Amino acid sequence: MSINIQIVERKIEVGEYIDLRKAVGWKILDIEYIEKGLSNSLFCVCAQMENEVIGMARVIGDGSICFYIQDVIVKPQYQSLGVGKMLMESVMSYISKNAAEGAGIGLMSTKGKEGFYEKFGFWRRPNDNYGHGMVQYWEKEK
Ligand SMILES: CC(C)(COP(=O)(O)OP(=O)(O)OC[C@H]1O[C@@H](n2cnc3c(N)ncnc32)[C@H](O)[C@@H]1OP(=O)(O)O)[C@@H](O)C(=O)NCCC(=O)NCCS
Repeated sequence: MSINIQIVERKIEVGEYIDLRKAVGWKILDIEYIEKGLSNSLFCVCAQMENEVIGMARVIGDGSICFYIQDVIVKPQYQSLGVGKMLMESVMSYISKNAAEGAGIGLMSTKGKEGFYEKFGFWRRPNDNYGHGMVQYWEKEK
């Protein structure tokens, strides 16, 4: 079976984004916040097969000295075909054209995907020189 997958630099629609996040079992935040968040992305790339979006990746940050890679997703039935690699190559190409020497490029790997990102030059924390990466998920009522 030959499959025709295209990597397209464009903003992702809210419905497409929700569809992808649901496909990998990720939480869906309120739509008004999704709309604002997506429109504030620095860069977004979609993997498309005919009219279906089967994958995405986006970059947020200041566009110069600090970048953060978010929402790297390939629908389960299209994983292990090289789509994630094409998405990350597009992301890294965008960053290479915009980042200052020494700029920080961050991401939070899901469990077990660290080896995927190591292929693109990322390394794990903590190590001898760097502490843990840290995060919290915002709760309005604490
Ligand atoms: C992570 C993800 C995007 C990878 O996409 P994919 O299309 O399956 O990956 P590819 O087929 O392009 O793999 C590219 C390379 O990474 C390797 N790879 C893929 N997953 C890996 C893993 N979990 N650990 C180590 N290497 C991995 C592949 O073997 C391949 O290596 P090669 O180039 O030497 O042949 C995909 O598994 C996914 O969407 N997972 C669910 C959502 C998720 O967890 N995203 C990460 C958020 S931080």
